[in-house]
Amino acid sequence: MKILLLLLLLLLFLSQAESQAAPKPNFVLIMADDLGIGDPGCYGNKTLRTPNIDRLAKEGVKLTQHLAASPLCTPSRAAFMTGRYPIRSGMASQYRTGVFLFLASSGGLPESEVTFARLLKNQGYETALIGKWHLGTHCRNNSDFCHHPSSHGFDYFHGIPVTNLRDCKPGQGSVFTSAIRLLVFVPLQVIAIALLTLAALRRLGLLHVPGPVFVCLLCLAAGILGALLGFLHYFRPLNCLLLQNRHISQQPLSYDNLTQRLTEDAAAFIRRNAGTPFLLVFSCLQVHTALFASKDFAGKSQHGAYGDAAEEMDWSVGQILNVLEELRLTNNTLVYFSSDQGAHVEEVTTRGDIHGGSNGIYKGGKGNNWEGGVRVPGLLRWPGVLEAGLEVHAPTSNMDIFPTVVTLAGAALPQDRVIDGRDLMPLLRSPSPPSHSEHEFLFHYCNFYLNAVRWHPRNSSSIWKVFLFTPNFTPEGANGCFLTHVCFCHGRFVTRHEPPLLFDLSKDPRESSPVTPSTEPRFWEILEVMQRAADRHARTVQEVPNQLSLQNLLWKPWLQMCCSSASGLSCQCDQEKQDRGGSP
Ligand SMILES: *[C@@H]1O[C@H](CO)[C@@H](O)[C@H](O)[C@H]1NC(C)=O
Ligand SMILES: *[C@@H]1O[C@H](CO)[C@@H](O)[C@H](O)[C@H]1NC(C)=O
Repeated sequence: MKILLLLLLLLLFLSQAESQAAPKPNFVLIMADDLGIGDPGCYGNKTLRTPNIDRLAKEGVKLTQHLAASPLCTPSRAAFMTGRYPIRSGMASQYRTGVFLFLASSGGLPESEVTFARLLKNQGYETALIGKWHLGTHCRNNSDFCHHPSSHGFDYFHGIPVTNLRDCKPGQGSVFTSAIRLLVFVPLQVIAIALLTLAALRRLGLLHVPGPVFVCLLCLAAGILGALLGFLHYFRPLNCLLLQNRHISQQPLSYDNLTQRLTEDAAAFIRRNAGTPFLLVFSCLQVHTALFASKDFAGKSQHGAYGDAAEEMDWSVGQILNVLEELRLTNNTLVYFSSDQGAHVEEVTTRGDIHGGSNGIYKGGKGNNWEGGVRVPGLLRWPGVLEAGLEVHAPTSNMDIFPTVVTLAGAALPQDRVIDGRDLMPLLRSPSPPSHSEHEFLFHYCNFYLNAVRWHPRNSSSIWKVFLFTPNFTPEGANGCFLTHVCFCHGRFVTRHEPPLLFDLSKDPRESSPVTPSTEPRFWEILEVMQRAADRHARTVQEVPNQLSLQNLLWKPWLQMCCSSASGLSCQCDQEKQDRGGSP
């Protein structure tokens, strides 16, 4: 009897000890924007200084084949948040524009999607997203916030709802407005010529158009022209603003001490929640253009404005790690660092300054599915749980964060839908890293279109990648689509391959020479296996409303947010503290 009691006590003690030893971990997920795998020091860069990112690699696990689910911001982030290929949530465009450009667009991550933030919030986590969202804001009116982070499980949001663009920073030139000018220039000319012809015919008496109809037509044309010019003029205040939760805190957004402001806010969130499990998604605005850096970093790097911005972002990562350290949260926090896609190699200013990063040895970049577009930095640190300095070469995806984080938080994965990500913990915790992950096949979409398939056969070291089509680089011979600024995914912008182009990345990571039936005797066999995998995958993809349809991409005046001041609606306000380290 006594022994039984003792045993019981022991059991009780053990279970207690276990529950104390394993409180729920915190998560800090850092997502850089357009940072290339050739940028951080820990991936081989010797001149760009990223000591804090490198520290994560030294103290944690480095993934060398970590893949963005899409080479473009909006779809990649949608996949990251949901653990699913973007096509499943309708976040894959069938048109040229693959991302949201306007705050007042009606597309966005559907409320029916489940983000890891929502599942963690249900597990008692405090959740915040600080920085860039880019997954939509409103549906029907400018106060429904149906796509806003707060509708997707984030208790707190501070940052930009759309994206950082050159057009947001005076003097940085314009990518978007010049594209629009290009697009509307022709239709405008057509309208003008049509009207002039009409006027001439009328004058000559060859055509009878009643006066009032003619005046109406003129007014209509003038109205369209006026609206367009007005919109281009007001692009910045209308689209470049900072939100704090659902309120505008700065319109237009100011770049002064912007990194400091967001970093401090992230630190404050961690401090507020040091006693509860928390999830912080720190989604850096850098190193997307418009590039910016504060006084301490401007002009300090060896790589111009791009290097300054990257080094400041690294500083920001360091600040967050320091706060974890200071609050003794390091050992109980899983830190993840990645980039939403590869570096934007076409970002070169008219003066010739390189404003895009480096994809190291890899071909292509943002916007295409060559390795440079999708192979991104991937670092995970959790001292005591993950072995410091470990390198994992097996294919992993940014969609894997979803099941990893959800499982660690003790939540169940949604059973009513396909989750494409795989829990990383078995791979990362294994005493010697296996060469194979759970991903035997990975599918690379260019917007809506299946572009390439990756196959890491279970019994082989080969990594096959097959391209159904490839983007037409312009000018010919370039490493990107410089004439259109980003590669497009269909029509005359791509070349279809029949038979598809096949590479073995384990031997040819630069994707420089495709294998052929004469160099690879199993050529047809390999293609067939991959084709069958693509067919199986295609059968799991259901048709859903397209969030990036033209209708959903358009600017809709009734969805526009605009802050009011004492003098009425001015679309100008500033409630941000710009003083770095300013008084609380
Ligand atoms: C390091 O990064 C800079 C900035 O992106 C780039 O210009 C340089 O080529 C990179 N170096 C290497 C070795 O990739
Ligand atoms: C940025 O922060 C610095 C340091 O605190 C401060 O001196 C400066 O005034 C701030 N800049 C702006 C525009 O507020």
